Amino acid sequence: MKTVKYLLLATSFITTVSTINAAEGPEIFKTNCTTCHTVGKGKLVGPDLKNVDQRHDEKWLNKWIRSSQTMVKNKDPKAVELFNNNNQIPMPDFAQLKEKDIKALLNYIKTESASLTEVAKTPNPAPSVKTIEEPEKKGNDPFISFFRDNPVSIFFFCFVLLLLGVVVVLVKALTSLTRVSYKRE
Ligand code: HEC
Repeated sequence: MKTVKYLLLATSFITTVSTINAAEGPEIFKTNCTTCHTVGKGKLVGPDLKNVDQRHDEKWLNKWIRSSQTMVKNKDPKAVELFNNNNQIPMPDFAQLKEKDIKALLNYIKTESASLTEVAKTPNPAPSVKTIEEPEKKGNDPFISFFRDNPVSIFFFCFVLLLLGVVVVLVKALTSLTRVSYKRE
């Protein structure tokens, strides 16, 4: 019975710790990183951190976040390349972050990246784009703008004109024919 109690205590302890960690990830990111980084919203001072866990392994990221400049000075090839590709702007050290903080942080970046790729996969954001474009497309002249918006209708318009012409010619031919037949009588 006692062991069950201990087990229960241990699991509840572990779950609280991990939930705290999960909640801490976004917090740590917001307070320390958002001035220079986004996840999926493009480059700020530093690179977009979307899918950064796929670019480097966890050990490298741990070292980098604690002190990127130490890595640059030690000529870690990836660190030197990053530093040079970003106008040699040094990223500040976050030596105060513990391994579990960085784990929570990386977890947050990972889930955020995953949710972003999911959004990108959902099809068809096109209609909203269309509604934005539509008002400025419309010219002052409704007649011209109608043809600009429906180029196919020009063919239709020409076809109708042609048909009208044919009808006029036919009617003329018919009337002259009937005239001829009147004359005969
Ligand atoms: C003052 C701006 C600044 C802050 C704050 C900052 N960084 Fe950076 N970070 C950079 C720059 C600049 C680079 C590019 C490398 C370089 O120039 O040293 C970079 C690079 C990185 C990289 C490598 C990115 C890649 O594409 O490989 C990671 C990972 C990273 N930062 C994580 C963090 C995390 C996590 C935090 C918050 C704890 C943070 N950074 C806070 C400026 C910053």
